[in-house]
Amino acid sequence: MSTTEELQTLVLTILDAKGTIPNTKDLVTSDNKEVDQLALLGALKSLSIADKEMVKYETIEEEIWVLTDEGNEIADKGSHEAKVFDAIPVGEEGIAISALREILDETAKIGQGKAFKNKWVIKRGDNLVRAVDSIIDQTRIDLEVIRSTGTHSDPKVLFELRKRKLCDKHKVISYSVSKGPKFSLTIEKQARDVTFEMLQSGEWKTANFKKYNFDALGIPPSGGHLHPLMKVREEFRQIFFEMGFEEMPTNKFVESSFWNFDSLFQPQQHPARDAHDTFFLKDPAICTQFPTEYLKRVKEVHSIGGYGSTGYGYDWKIEEAQKLILRTHTTAVSSFMLYNLAQQKEFKPVKYFSIDRVFRNETVDATHLAEFHQVEGVIADKGLTLGDLIGFMNTFFNKMGVKNLRFKPAYNPYTEPSMEIFSYHQGLGKWVEMGNSGMFRPEMLEPMGLDPEVRVIAWGLG
Ligand code: PHE
Repeated sequence: MSTTEELQTLVLTILDAKGTIPNTKDLVTSDNKEVDQLALLGALKSLSIADKEMVKYETIEEEIWVLTDEGNEIADKGSHEAKVFDAIPVGEEGIAISALREILDETAKIGQGKAFKNKWVIKRGDNLVRAVDSIIDQTRIDLEVIRSTGTHSDPKVLFELRKRKLCDKHKVISYSVSKGPKFSLTIEKQARDVTFEMLQSGEWKTANFKKYNFDALGIPPSGGHLHPLMKVREEFRQIFFEMGFEEMPTNKFVESSFWNFDSLFQPQQHPARDAHDTFFLKDPAICTQFPTEYLKRVKEVHSIGGYGSTGYGYDWKIEEAQKLILRTHTTAVSSFMLYNLAQQKEFKPVKYFSIDRVFRNETVDATHLAEFHQVEGVIADKGLTLGDLIGFMNTFFNKMGVKNLRFKPAYNPYTEPSMEIFSYHQGLGKWVEMGNSGMFRPEMLEPMGLDPEVRVIAWGLG
């Protein structure tokens, strides 16, 4: 079979020479083979798509009659009734029916009836005898005509032979092709991908790109399994869902310093905001869209305090908050979600969780990467206490099979009290840190507009 390119060249050269192709069923390839119309359709389609328009084509639907296997057999060797006639010797005696069966088998059975009907044979005792000198095998002749012309002048014959399952009607599709407005002999190769070379040379600006085919089906993967990290992530998710948590949208790896630090009451001169610990973006380097009123309240609580706090007493700068970074913890998302919660008319308790990537500018070694996953949970309700946090941690870790938990006082700019969570690792024979937790500070929650009665317990793992 010819390739799409070969078929396209064939069509284009004929169009160039003759102007049109009335019916593609008459096309032959350079090595004198019939053209597969389905393959041709592919070639025509790609020559006629909207941004190419090199050719125009219309579909021609024709009916042709084709012989079945049995029909072909008869066209080659004669009908059953003719075989019966031929098997009977000339003369008065003829042949015994049982002997005929032996020679012709099935054919004897099928052919006899028809041979009687045609008055070619008669029965004499147990024998069959010829009734005429010679016969004309019309069935065979008709089938030969159909085979070579695809039809027959007498519709009754076609009807009859089809009933006998010797031939059948088929639909054949072919095409009439003419030149399109952008006809040319050369097919411009369309680029499929933006390559490194194209970017470097600037060729991507002028390249003719192949349109994306959104209808194309993907290649089904032959197999696969979850990445170990994704398996653990699934386990955590299931536990959270079981406990009635909603998943937070964590699809923003790039965050403003405002949501990652300032909204969390993390002072601007805090060491974590240093380029040693945080990845800063160069282009674009800043973000300028923040909720104005809230931004003002954050600035105030940092610089002069409020909500019963004295604040940090420093000169808070918007330029620092505007800096774009790769988020250093998923608490940036929690903060954004709590701000949104505070904007609801009526407070309703929530349980949120997230599991996603965070980034820190660490020296990479065997146990440290510049990116890792955090599991984070947030519960907001009136009257929650540290006891709730400890209780919740125990239930959560028990569900994962971690039994021995210990809590150690810690410090976070955004939580008070804060606790590090440890669990005893049987294999390592020591206490290992699992995560960090606490109750979000009023300096973080109240500027958002949350009711001062609302307490938020939160923890991060990983
Ligand atoms: N953001 C903290 C970390 O990255 C974890 C944490 C989340 C602590 C929520 C307290 C509350 O370690």
